[in-house]
This record gives sequence, C-alpha cells and structure tokens, in this order.
Amino acid sequence: MTSPLRRPLIAGNWKMNLTLAQSAELARAVAAGAAAASGEVAVCVPFTAIPVVAEVLRGSPVRLGGQDCYWEAQGAYTGEISAGMLKDAGCRMAILGHSERRKLFGETDEHVNRKLAAVLKAGLTPIVCVGETLDERETQKTWRVLETQAAGALKGFAPADLAPVVLAYEPVWAIGTGKTATPAQAQEAHLFLRAQLKKLYGEALAAGTRILYGGSVTADNVDVLMAQPDVDGALVGGASLKKDAFLRIMGFQAA
Ligand code: PGA
Repeated sequence: MTSPLRRPLIAGNWKMNLTLAQSAELARAVAAGAAAASGEVAVCVPFTAIPVVAEVLRGSPVRLGGQDCYWEAQGAYTGEISAGMLKDAGCRMAILGHSERRKLFGETDEHVNRKLAAVLKAGLTPIVCVGETLDERETQKTWRVLETQAAGALKGFAPADLAPVVLAYEPVWAIGTGKTATPAQAQEAHLFLRAQLKKLYGEALAAGTRILYGGSVTADNVDVLMAQPDVDGALVGGASLKKDAFLRIMGFQAA
C-alpha cells in the first residue's frame, strides 16, 4: 500500500473513444461511484468531450483531464490545444508523453519537457508517462529507458516546481495487450523511478510523488498491483470505458 504521503489516484484514459452521449453517461456513472472510491479519481477524455464531461462532473470530486496539449499558450498552431485552454474548459489534469503519442506522433522527451512546463504554468496536474517497449525489456534496456525518459521530461525544474507531478510507469508491452506487468515487475520499476527522483530532485520530492502503474489494469488485477508499496495508483485505458470494471478499480482494496 502506498505511503500516507501519497493519496492514491485512479485515472481513466478514454483515448479516442465514445460519442458525447456515451461520454456523459459514463461520466455520470463515475461521478455516482466516487463516494465509494478508495482514492482520488480522474477521467482523461477526448478534447471534444471535455465541456460535456465537465458539466456532468460539476460538484463531484472526480477530476477531469485532457490526454495531451501543446506547449505554446496560443497562436498559429493549427490543430493544437494549449494547457490554458484545457484549464479554461474545466480540466485539472493532463496526460503527457503517453507511449501512443511517442510512437504514433513522434513525441520526444524534449517535447514532453516543454509540455510539462506549460501544464505546470497553467496550474494543471501533469501525468507524465514513461515506459519501455518489449524489445527494450528483452535487451536489458529498461532501466536506461526509464532513466532517460524521466530525466528528459523533468529536466530544468526546481524540486518545488515538480511537486504536482504524477508519474505513470506504463510498460509499452502491457498497454492494450492484456499482458499486465506482474506486481513484482511494477514494484521494481516504480522503486527505480522513485530512486531516480531522489537522485535528481531529493528525498522529499521522491517520497511525495505519486507513481501510477498503467498497462492492462483490470478489476481483477488492480488489488494486487495497488498492494505494492510504490504503486500509488493506476492509469487505466480499456477498462476505464467499462462502467462496472472502472467502478471496481476505483474501489480497489490493496491486499
Ligand atoms: P490499457 O491502457 O489499460 O488499455 O492497457 C493503458 C494506457 O494506455 O494508459
């Protein structure tokens, strides 16, 4: 179970799914289940659904997040959305550097670093994703990848600036594959990331930073994952679209 310094966070990542009507319906169910949640709850929804879901979540403790944003505040950047625009629309969080953004849209650690600055400046809570591919794991590069991605994303900030940051360890081979990391693999990677935080930014930041696990989290495996001392929550893709599964994940019981 996570340290009392870190409030568990269960965040749904809806990715590019659901109509506005379906979004409102799912958000209503999540809001209705919030009282029974075992920690903080968030849903990170497609840009177009933000206003609708913000309206449904008004007055509820469930936080709303975007799944990405651009680093500039405004201007001629066709197709992009700024951190300030997310905030204005009702978001309090933003996922940054998701492996799908990195792989399919060419995001680099430097991009994530610039986006992080914009998100922190806007006063949003960033969820910064890192994680190795299967090939990297099988060729013993996991630690180097995690070290490089974490250092690259968090570069140039003072420890105090980084206090709101949430990290998400998302092994790419576990995302959407049904192949979850074992609790021991997740714990090992989270401990490694916490050690990196300590090395770069000191003990206080390392001890206070929430590190979520993401990658095929389900109602069936959430409890054992959440029982690991350095797993402080979950970033949930597929199962966050299924009402019953997500409600069960929200109400995890760390064994
Ligand atoms: P998944 O996705 O739960 O469907 O594996 C997790 C994520 O991409 O954040």
